[in-house]
Amino acid sequence: MLQTKSSLFERASKVTPPTAQRATKIGVVKAEGSYLYGEDGQKYLDFASGVAVMNVGHNHPKVVEAAKRQMDEMIHAGHNVVYYPSYIELAEKLNELNGGDHMVYFSNSGAEVNEGAIKLAKKVTKRPAVISFKRGFHGRTLAATSITASSAAYRKDYEGLMPSVYYADFPYVFRSNLTEEEEVERCIQQLEEIFKFQVTPDSVAAIILEPIQGEGGYIVPPQSFLERIRRICDDHGILLVFDEIQTGFGRTGKMFAYEHFNVKPDIITLAKGIASGFPLSALIAPKEIMEQWPAGTHGGTYGGNPVACAAALASIKILEEEGLSNSTTLGKYFKGKLLELKDKYKVIGDVRGLGLMLAMELVKDDGTPDPEKLAHLRAFAEKKGVILLGCGTDKNVIRFIPPTTVTKQEIDLVLSIVEEGLTENE
Ligand SMILES: Cc1ncc(COP(=O)(O)O)c(C=O)c1O
Repeated sequence: MLQTKSSLFERASKVTPPTAQRATKIGVVKAEGSYLYGEDGQKYLDFASGVAVMNVGHNHPKVVEAAKRQMDEMIHAGHNVVYYPSYIELAEKLNELNGGDHMVYFSNSGAEVNEGAIKLAKKVTKRPAVISFKRGFHGRTLAATSITASSAAYRKDYEGLMPSVYYADFPYVFRSNLTEEEEVERCIQQLEEIFKFQVTPDSVAAIILEPIQGEGGYIVPPQSFLERIRRICDDHGILLVFDEIQTGFGRTGKMFAYEHFNVKPDIITLAKGIASGFPLSALIAPKEIMEQWPAGTHGGTYGGNPVACAAALASIKILEEEGLSNSTTLGKYFKGKLLELKDKYKVIGDVRGLGLMLAMELVKDDGTPDPEKLAHLRAFAEKKGVILLGCGTDKNVIRFIPPTTVTKQEIDLVLSIVEEGLTENE
């Protein structure tokens, strides 16, 4: 009897749990630049970038070369045991990129580095509470889940999470029916009410937020909101943590999104794009804060792996040489074209984002979220060979996160497929 070969999806379904489910059923065997190559021979234009990780494109030759060179020299020796060049060079570079006078601690993932930020803030302030934001996403480990409020589904059955977490409103101008100023004022008032009714500010160790909310819907806050939050932190001795895990490393056209808002956090957490696919994350904070984190009070075996650090150094160089300017220029072009589509199609309620961290929110005629349209558009794009991801608590926001090395022609192709997908069946 003729046996057909099982797909990677079919094989995975037998040996991995539903929680390891993917956004697509595509099996891939190779990746290069803006493209993934399927096991069936199909070529996919990847506007997901492994969820905002492959910011300099898949398998950039300079990243591959740096990683291979490091592998030839040393794969792991343990940052708890010895010192090695790539770790120190990367810490020096990240310090320089953040204005000097900072220190850097490396971990493996976004969730892990956010855990570190919570521990550092508690250690330094000797305070118990943390404030995070509705629609914020910070990872899947227990403390990271505790400060995540982008969907109740992520928390269901895990409740009894880290105590003393309070959730503030993040400005969402498009949905608010308020002006920018009014929406900022409303959110600040709600935060003040948390201080009045639930937790006094002198019990709060940290306020943590994404400078642009990712998973929650690619929501860009007005600059004045971040300025007000900065002031509140200063007034009360609260440490301000920016989770730049998705917004960092050139995604928004700057190395870090905080540079757009002219608001400097006390603690920065980084992961995803930092090492172009090698597991690495970094916590950055001023020296006077970091020097209060005693030896042995935080750690991990693999953090700052030599190969990941070498890949990160190469990635930063590529971003400095071409990625940042490409992200700015093509991001502007792409956003302009999406705004033109918005003028043509009522289903596009909003277009937002910075650099190549762009999104459009799909709505029904009455302005309510349209998750069905999003599912249709993603499936349509996939059939045409383009991978797109959704986001947003109501699953109605399409995000566009191509590598910063993307070309105008690739963006134009995606735009034409998006337009075709939006008008199909109309
Ligand atoms: C803003 C933000 N923080 C934290 C995380 C968690 O990172 P990781 O999946 O590496 O734990 C993510 C991942 O999507 C993220 O987007």
